[in-house]
Amino acid sequence: MRINILAIESSCDETAAAVIQNGKLLNNIIASQSVHAAFGGVVPELASRAHEKKIVTVVNDALTSAGIRVNELDAVAFTRGPGLIGSLLVGTSFAKGLALAQGIPLIEVNHMQAHVMAHFIPDRKPRLPFLCLTVSGGHTQLVLMRDMLKFELLGQTRDDAAGEAFDKGAKLLGLPYPGGPLIDKLAAEGDPGRFRFPHTSMPGYDYSFSGIKTSLLYMLKDGVAKSPDFVEHNLKDLCAGYQHRILSMLMEKLKKAAEDYNITTIGLAGGVAANSGLREMLQHEAKLCGWEIFIPDFGYCTDNAGMIAITAHYKFLEGSFSDLSAVPVASLGPDLAFSS
Ligand code: KG4
Ligand code: ZN
Repeated sequence: MRINILAIESSCDETAAAVIQNGKLLNNIIASQSVHAAFGGVVPELASRAHEKKIVTVVNDALTSAGIRVNELDAVAFTRGPGLIGSLLVGTSFAKGLALAQGIPLIEVNHMQAHVMAHFIPDRKPRLPFLCLTVSGGHTQLVLMRDMLKFELLGQTRDDAAGEAFDKGAKLLGLPYPGGPLIDKLAAEGDPGRFRFPHTSMPGYDYSFSGIKTSLLYMLKDGVAKSPDFVEHNLKDLCAGYQHRILSMLMEKLKKAAEDYNITTIGLAGGVAANSGLREMLQHEAKLCGWEIFIPDFGYCTDNAGMIAITAHYKFLEGSFSDLSAVPVASLGPDLAFSS
C-alpha cells in the first residue's frame, strides 16, 4: 500500500506545500513573500494576506508535480505552531477543509520538531540519540532526540534568536533585510579580532543575544561620533567580529551539551545553518571531538513543507492524528509541547 501525505507550512512568511509518499519526499514547493523587505521584518497582517493569496496555487503545484490527485491522498498535515497566529490559521483552515472534504485524517505538526526532523528527509539519516541546534530568525533551540518523535528541549534563547541578532545587527550596519547572509559574506573578508563583543553566558544550555546587539549599537554610536565614515570604513571587520561572537556563543552550548550527554551525532537546522562560519566551526569541532555531523540542504533548513511532510509520515505510522478542533498555537511550552 502507498501512503500519500500532503503537508502544508504557513507559520511565518513562506507559503509551502509538499507531498511525501511512503516517507520519500516527492517535492518541496515554496512561495516566499517579498512584501516584507520594505519593512525590515515580517509584518504579520501582510503575511496572512499573502498566505491566503498563494495557498491554493502552492498546494496545486505540489499535487500536480507529484502526479497525485487529491482523492489519492491518505492524510493532510499542517503546521499547528509555533508561529504567527494569522499565518498559521490559513494553513490550518485549508488543511481542515481538505481533510473534511476528502474524509482523510488530519496530522498536526510542531514546527520546531519538524526543523529537527528535516534531517530524516535524505537517505543518510542521523543515528539516535541525536543533538540538534536549530537556529532561525525566530528560534534558537538545542534539542535532544533520543527516539523517533521524542524531543527534549535542553536549552533555548531567553530573548532574541540567533537569526534575529544577525538581522538586527545588519540593520544597525545599514544592510537590507534579511541581513544574515550579508553579514556572512562580509565577515568572510573581515578580521574577527579587531572589534570585540561581549560573550553572554546564560545558565545551563540557554542563550541570550540581546546584549551583543546593544553593544554593536553603542560601538557604532561612539565610532560615528569620532568619524562619520566609521561604518563604511570598518564594515567587514565589524561584521566579522559580530558574527564571530554569535557563533562562539552558539558553539559553546552545543559543545557543552554534546559532552554532558555524551552525544556524537550532531546536526544544525534553521536558516542560520547556512552560515559559512558556523559550518566551518562545526566541521572543525567534529574533527576534534569525533562528531558525525548533519546539515540538511539549505531548502530543508529554512522554513519548508518537506520537514512538515517527513514529520507527518512518522506520525502517520504511529497513528497520531488530530481532530477538527485543533487550533493554531503561537508558542510552545517549556517541553516543546503545544501550550494549549
Ligand atoms: O529558518 P528561517 O528561514 O526562517 C525563520 O523561521 O526564521 O531563518 C531565517 C534566518 C534569518 O534571520 C536570516 O538572516 C538567517 O536565517 N540566515 C543567515 C544566513 N542565511 C540565512 N544568517 C547568517 N548567515 C547566513 N548565511
Ligand atoms: Zn522555522
